[in-house]
Amino acid sequence: MTEPALTLLYPRDRIAAEVARLGREISEDYPGREILLVGVLKGSFLFFADLVRAITVPTVVDFVRLASYGSETQSSGIVEMRKDLELSVQGRDVVIVEDIVDSGYTLETLYHRLLLRQPRSLKVCTLIDKKSRREVELEADYVGISMEEGFIVGYGLDYDERYRNLPDIFLVNNL
Ligand code: PRP
Repeated sequence: MTEPALTLLYPRDRIAAEVARLGREISEDYPGREILLVGVLKGSFLFFADLVRAITVPTVVDFVRLASYGSETQSSGIVEMRKDLELSVQGRDVVIVEDIVDSGYTLETLYHRLLLRQPRSLKVCTLIDKKSRREVELEADYVGISMEEGFIVGYGLDYDERYRNLPDIFLVNNL
């Protein structure tokens, strides 16, 4: 595979500042409560790890794995759940943690599945919100960074499974 050219877009300091803000906002919204944080694998793993440490109210954590069919850069809208939660959602305050909301198909699928399990409340936190690409009506409750166009990698986000380990977020130039 030819190496794509990467341009630094969101450096680690910016990401850390947004994560700290999101942690504060979430903590303020659930005083005296315990939150079930649901990480969507794989992309959210770094964001999730940082966010959970920025939240000061009690939390429990669990993970789901969703996969959407389509090309590298475009979702088909068909989303499969490959790994379900292990904890019960019923009666809990649940926050879904995503690295990026793009078309919104992944989040829509998960959101409606979890809603059927009767949580006390259900909210969504995403590090990156690509609103211009949305195909469904779904807004995240907590947004780190809103961006327009462009394919990004790093801090959990991949291109063909690579670059997830980069500590900063980069724009892939030639896609
Ligand atoms: C990415 C990302 C989101 C989803 C967003 O996951 O982590 O879950 O796409 O796209 P959408 O809003 O168009 O549905 P992906 O399916 O690439 O798997 P990954 O998390 O393992 O990289």
